[in-house]
Amino acid sequence: MDISQFDATILGHRTPDPLQFAFAGKSSAHAGRGGRPLTTPEAQIARMDQLLASEPIPGRARCLYVHIPFCRVRCTFCSFFQYAASPDWIHGYLQGLWQELENKARQPWVQAAPFDAVYVGGGTPTDMSAGQIQELGQRIRRLFPLSADCEMTLEGRLNGFNDDKFDASLHGGFNRFSFGVQSFDSQVRRAAKRLDLRDAVMSRLQQLAAADAAPIIIDLLFGLPFQDEACWQRDIADFLASGAHGVDLYQLIEMQGTPMARLIEQGKQPPPAMTPMKARMYAYGAQTLEAAGLTRLSVSHWARDARERSRYNALAKTSADVLPLGAGAGGNINGVALMQHRDLPAYRESFTRTPWPIAMMMEPAPQAARDGLLKAAFDRGILDGNLWTRAGEPELFQTLSPLLKAWAERGLLELRADSAELTLAGRFWSVNMAQGALTALAGRTGAPSSLMQQHKEATHAAH
Ligand SMILES: C[S@@+](CC[C@H](N)C(=O)[O-])C[C@H]1O[C@@H](n2cnc3c(N)ncnc32)[C@H](O)[C@@H]1O
Ligand code: SF4
Repeated sequence: MDISQFDATILGHRTPDPLQFAFAGKSSAHAGRGGRPLTTPEAQIARMDQLLASEPIPGRARCLYVHIPFCRVRCTFCSFFQYAASPDWIHGYLQGLWQELENKARQPWVQAAPFDAVYVGGGTPTDMSAGQIQELGQRIRRLFPLSADCEMTLEGRLNGFNDDKFDASLHGGFNRFSFGVQSFDSQVRRAAKRLDLRDAVMSRLQQLAAADAAPIIIDLLFGLPFQDEACWQRDIADFLASGAHGVDLYQLIEMQGTPMARLIEQGKQPPPAMTPMKARMYAYGAQTLEAAGLTRLSVSHWARDARERSRYNALAKTSADVLPLGAGAGGNINGVALMQHRDLPAYRESFTRTPWPIAMMMEPAPQAARDGLLKAAFDRGILDGNLWTRAGEPELFQTLSPLLKAWAERGLLELRADSAELTLAGRFWSVNMAQGALTALAGRTGAPSSLMQQHKEATHAAH
């Protein structure tokens, strides 16, 4: 690899402070992927029939992702919001989802091997009733082969998640909970249109964690309007005081078209933190959590004890298979990427023609397996040449080594003979570095602006 032509979007800048200034900004929420799209519905359906009749790839981990596209209120910063929750809409949606679960569960590919992790995400799945949550869990457990220690996560928020829902979830077989908290601070929460203020969030979280029935994980965002560095320090302290078993720290990605973008444009809210401040917030969070004895499972996720494995998030970022279920769900089968209809009428209508509500499908690029290894490595913060050799990529570490050396000189990683570990700065910039590695391996010298834009828009993935 000749790095002499690479620009700073790949190499990063030489600076005494790489944490704040190695790159200009985060290039995307996740590193992108390429592939050849199947353009006609007929081709997509035929390919799906073929895949679901085939054998799974031996040894490859398998996950289920179920999407519940409803929230009671749209948070100002969020680009995942799809539909306002109403009991009627959720009820109607679940009738279609039950059908889809049955259709998929009958397929040879599905029954051929157990699934290692199930993630019910959204939207806000906890906005379903207690009975619906339990029924969903039970249907999944009855219809799909799950490994004995399968992780089964329910995502949502603490608001409205009462004891009835908690008990019903556990009876339904859920054994992990992921709640978006974003910030504990009442002013930040009000501005973001989060339901509940600090004390209500804190006390419910403490109750659920103290029940010790399943790992309770929270998401925190850094860089929200009104969330200054002192506020962020209180957020981290509040997480530690809550007793919750794990935390994800996500930097706010500013998306066009969100209510937050409009409020800022109209001068009704201050702009969120700039990248250097986000970098300092990340560093504070990571260092404080690690000083408190938490284990880093990835560049953005920390666990208090061994109970929290974060299996779905780790697997979905590799080349593991993810069988998607529900409107707006995405996944991949034997490497073929697919996205289901987001639009509810289109999702429902598709069942009159086919059992597969597919909106988009992409054959894997030839280098997809290698790219999967790379993305997983950058997400973990450890690039392990021996692991890549065992996974069938014996040249990869060597090929990348000029780039790794340049990054080591820029303070982004520590390079050893056949492995490299991202520094704190490298962990903050890991998505840029993953994207840089993919761009370099694709033989390009920097990221063209159209590619950057495309990646900015490709935000769906393994939350
Ligand atoms: C799809 S949401 C579901 C969580 C749940 N509905 C809630 O709000 O509590 C999953 C996570 O995505 C993250 N997220 C949403 N918008 C984001 C943005 N603009 N930038 C970065 N992360 C974002 C939030 O941390 C959120 O908890
Ligand atoms: S952050 Fe969660 S609750 Fe808020 S709009 Fe997004 S998905 Fe819905």
